[in-house]
Amino acid sequence: MSRAYGYASRTHHLVPEGAYQVLRRAQELEAGGRPVIHLEIGQPDYDTFENIRASGMRAIAEGQTRYTPPAGMWRLREAIAKQAGQQRGLNFDPSQVVVGPGAKPNLFFPALAIIEPGDEVIYPNPGFPTYEAMIRVAGGKPIPVPLKEENNFSFDLKALRQLVNIQTRLVILNSPSNPTGGVMPLADLEEVARLAREFNCWVMSDEIYSRLVFDDLSVPSIASLPGMMERTIIVEGFSKTYAMTGWRLGYGIMPVELAQVVELLLTHSIGCTAQFTQIAGIEALTGAQDQVAEMVREYQKRRDIIVDGLNAIPGITCQKPQGAFYVFPNIKSFGKSSSEMADLLLEKAGVAVLPGTAFGEFGEGYLRLTYSNSIENIQKAIQQIGEVVRRLRRVNMVNEYDH
Ligand SMILES: Cc1ncc(COP(=O)(O)O)c(C=O)c1O
Repeated sequence: MSRAYGYASRTHHLVPEGAYQVLRRAQELEAGGRPVIHLEIGQPDYDTFENIRASGMRAIAEGQTRYTPPAGMWRLREAIAKQAGQQRGLNFDPSQVVVGPGAKPNLFFPALAIIEPGDEVIYPNPGFPTYEAMIRVAGGKPIPVPLKEENNFSFDLKALRQLVNIQTRLVILNSPSNPTGGVMPLADLEEVARLAREFNCWVMSDEIYSRLVFDDLSVPSIASLPGMMERTIIVEGFSKTYAMTGWRLGYGIMPVELAQVVELLLTHSIGCTAQFTQIAGIEALTGAQDQVAEMVREYQKRRDIIVDGLNAIPGITCQKPQGAFYVFPNIKSFGKSSSEMADLLLEKAGVAVLPGTAFGEFGEGYLRLTYSNSIENIQKAIQQIGEVVRRLRRVNMVNEYDH
């Protein structure tokens, strides 16, 4: 393509998120009269809690619809510093907090601020697709570290030790993880922290699911390990914890000097986050938290149902994840790619799921299902998947017999 009509090479690698492609096909089926159970999109099936909605609406009615400082309203930054600090046993200053429209800008802009062209960036694979996209846009070299089922989908530390070197500028972590729901144990975080200090690299810790954890677990943050806050960017948000995906509200917590650079990038790109959204965010953090606790209890119930249901289907094995709202079952026994299996389940079982490869090549052999759906729908989905898969196994066995 000639340069005059082409697009800059930094955009050539960009692809849509897999979830939206599956959603499009599911909607086509629905338009043709086929009902589909949606277990593909990673967002809470809850409405934003009433007190938060009321606060946002009140703010609009009162005319709080103007620009704010690019890094966010000071009151919100204070509330975030307090809550996030209490959760992690750390003291944050509000000036370390950068508010953005969703967590995504606090992935993307710190990445732009840190990565020089050619720098190596280590990131989890399977992992949230934005990591690889932002590394490449920044000109960095993406270095995937596999998340392995045998390690409960924590980082493969052996691979990490082999891959980290003096060119490594940044290590990205995500615990609890999308797409696996896996949680990194403290011992693994300690090893990552040791390597980050030894090789003098940054760590970006995407903790957006840190409050969606089960079995009374508390998820450790790498930022709370000795000498780590000065090289860590915590990425967090309101989308999952407070069912606020469409409000667009998230934040990063990082060293003040980096926060100032990220604020400049926000200044010249998004400007600021909607004022009424930020006011709703203050209510989310400072209002009653019992609805969050209730939601987490409900997710835990659904997790148990979906894990037990999948494990009861011959040929599927599924670990019990400790966080987020995803399961990542192993479907290798069927001899089909995860993409073929996802297509089959959508077309034949009427259940929309994502192939593990929507999160990178090490997701091959797995599917991602979200259980942010009703128990009734989850049970129906399990039954429909079970029927299709049992038929597939019978066909496979006949074929093997023929050979
Ligand atoms: C791991 C992870 N990080 C970040 C995000 C982005 O969140 P937000 O909607 O707040 O931008 C998501 C959303 O799916 C996610 O799964």
